[in-house]
Amino acid sequence: MRTGYATDHRGLAWLHRSLAEEQAAHGLVFNPLRDAFQRDPERVYAELRHRSPVHRSRLLDCWVVTRYADIARVLREHTLFRSSPDTTTQDLVDPYVTLDPGRPSLFMLDPPDHTRLRGAVREAFAPEALRQLTPRLEDCVREVVTALGRPGDRVDLVAGFATVLPLRVLDLLTGLDLHTVPGVTGWVDRIVSGLEPIATVRTAEQALAAYRELGACLDERLAAPAREGTLHRSLTRDVEAGRLSDAEARQLLMFLVLAGTRTVSDFLAGAARELAALPPGAPQRRCVDSALVDDLIARTSPVQIVARTAAAATAVGGRNISAGDRLLLVLASANRDPDRTGRELAFGGGIHRCVGARLARLEGRAALSCLLATFPGMRPVEAVPARRCVTLRGWDRVIVHL
Ligand code: HEM
Repeated sequence: MRTGYATDHRGLAWLHRSLAEEQAAHGLVFNPLRDAFQRDPERVYAELRHRSPVHRSRLLDCWVVTRYADIARVLREHTLFRSSPDTTTQDLVDPYVTLDPGRPSLFMLDPPDHTRLRGAVREAFAPEALRQLTPRLEDCVREVVTALGRPGDRVDLVAGFATVLPLRVLDLLTGLDLHTVPGVTGWVDRIVSGLEPIATVRTAEQALAAYRELGACLDERLAAPAREGTLHRSLTRDVEAGRLSDAEARQLLMFLVLAGTRTVSDFLAGAARELAALPPGAPQRRCVDSALVDDLIARTSPVQIVARTAAAATAVGGRNISAGDRLLLVLASANRDPDRTGRELAFGGGIHRCVGARLARLEGRAALSCLLATFPGMRPVEAVPARRCVTLRGWDRVIVHL
C-alpha cells in the first residue's frame, strides 16, 4: 500500500533532465506545467494523438493515452487494467490514495468490493428516483438562479451559481444538508487539487487536512437521525442489515460529495460560459435540450483524465506496457478525436462509468435552461480558467452581465 507522495529526490535539475530525455526519445514532451498547456490543452492533446498517442511521460512517470480507440479499450478491459493504484510501479501516485489508505473510494476499487459498494448507491441514481427528485431539484435551481441578481447586473457565475447548486442538489439526495456548512466547498476544492498528477507535496498535505475537516463534518451529520427517502437512510439500513460496514457507508457518502460537486460546478461554469458567448438569438440559448447538454459535457470534459494500472504485460496502441505501469487516459482528448467511433467518454466507461451521470445531465439541463430563461440577454464579460489543472478542468471566474 502506498503511503507517501515520493517527490523528495526530485528538483529543477531532475525536471529539466526528464524533459530533455522525453524530447530525445519521442521528439516531443508532455509538460502540463507549461503555460502553453494550461492555456490550450486541446492543442497539446491533438498533437499527442497525432504523433505519440501512447506517450511515455518521464515527468509523470506513466503513459499518457490520447486516442479514443485505445482509451475505450482500456476502460472496457477492467481485469487487465485495474483501478487500484496499490500495485503500480509509478513514483507519483495520486495523493488521493494517501488520504485514507485503509478505505479507498469507489473508483479506486476493483470487483468484488466495487460491485458490492456500487450496488448500495445505484438505486439512488436510477431513473425512478431521479423522477421523484426532479420537482425539488427544479425548485432549488429556481432559488439559486433568481438569487443571482437582476437583468443587467454584473455577476460571477462560478461563485453565485456553479459552485452553489451542486452541493444543494446533492443534499436533496443524501439528506446531509452540507450546503449549510460554509467550509465544505473550500475543503472539496483542496481535496480535489490533490488529485492532480502535478500536485506537490504541499498540495497533498493541504488535501489531507481538508479531507479530515470534511470527514469530521460528515461524522457530525451522520450522528443525527437519517431522514426517510435519503441516501443517508438507505445506507444506514444497509449497515443495520450487515450488507455494509459503518466505514464503508461513510466512505461512500464522502466520495459522493467529492465526485458529485466540483465536477458539476466545473461543467456548469464551462457550459454557461459557452452559452453566454453565443449571439442572443442563437437557438441553443432558447432551448437547452438533452442533446445540447451531452454535447456541452463532452466538449468541456470536466474530468479530463482517469487512471488505470496494468495488471500484466500487454500492448496498447502498439507500445509495450509492463505489469504495474500506470496509464493516464485522457478522456478530454478521446472526446475530440476525429476518429472517435462510439459514444463520448466524459463519464468514463466500463464498470466505473459515472454513477451520477444521469443526475449530472438532469441538473445541467435544469440549471442552464433556467439561467437562460431568466436572463435571456446574458452577455459574457470575462472568463478566467483555474490554473494548474490537468485532471479536473474548471474556471476561477466566469463574469457576465445578466
Ligand atoms: C458533469 C459531471 C460529472 C462528470 C464529468 C463525471 C465524470 C466521471 C468519470 C469520468 C468517472 C469515472 C472515473 C474512472 O473511471 O476512474 C466518474 C465516476 C464516478 N462519478 Fe462522476 N462525474 C460527474 C458527476 C457526478 C455526480 C453528480 C455524481 C454523484 C452525485 C458522481 C459520482 C461518481 C461516482 C460515485 C463515480 C465512481 C463510479 C465507480 O467507480 O463505479 N459523478 N465520474
